[in-house]
Amino acid sequence: MKRAEFIRSLGLGSSALMAVYCIGTLSSCANEDTPLPVDNGNPNPISNGKVDFTLDLSLAANQALLANGGYIYNGNIIIAKTTSGSFIALSKVCTHQGTTVEYRKDTNDIYCPNHGSRFDITGKVIQSPAPSPLTMYKVEYNAVTAKVRVFEA
Ligand code: FES
Repeated sequence: MKRAEFIRSLGLGSSALMAVYCIGTLSSCANEDTPLPVDNGNPNPISNGKVDFTLDLSLAANQALLANGGYIYNGNIIIAKTTSGSFIALSKVCTHQGTTVEYRKDTNDIYCPNHGSRFDITGKVIQSPAPSPLTMYKVEYNAVTAKVRVFEA
C-alpha cells in the first residue's frame, strides 16, 4: 500500500498526517511519485505547461517497461507496455475518487483497486463507478534508442 493510500485508509486529513509522518520518520517527504529518471534534457515531466518527458528504458527505474505487461508511474501518469507490446500512457488518477490505478496484464485493462472501476487501454470507462475516462497521452517509442516519449499534442 502506498503512503497516500494508507493515509486515506485512516480517514484523516492528509496534511496533518503527513506532517506527523514526516517528523516521525525523519525521512524526506518528497512525493512518492516523483519523476523517474528521464533522458531528454528536460527532467521535468511538464514542459511549457504540457506533459512531455522521455523514459530511457536502459535505466533500471524504467525496466519494467521492457516486458509486455509491465508498467511504471511518472508523476501522475501510468505508462504501460501492453500484452501486445504497445506502449500506453494515461492519467493514473481514478476519476471516481482519485486512487492510483494499475495496469492488469491478465485482462489488458486499467483497474482501480479502491472501488473496482475498470478502464480500457484508451482510458474509456468499462466498469463504474468512475464517471469519466482517464486522460490519455501520446506515446512514441524509439526502438533504436530504447526510449519512450510521453507527451500532449
Ligand atoms: S476511487 Fe477508483 S473506483 Fe473509486
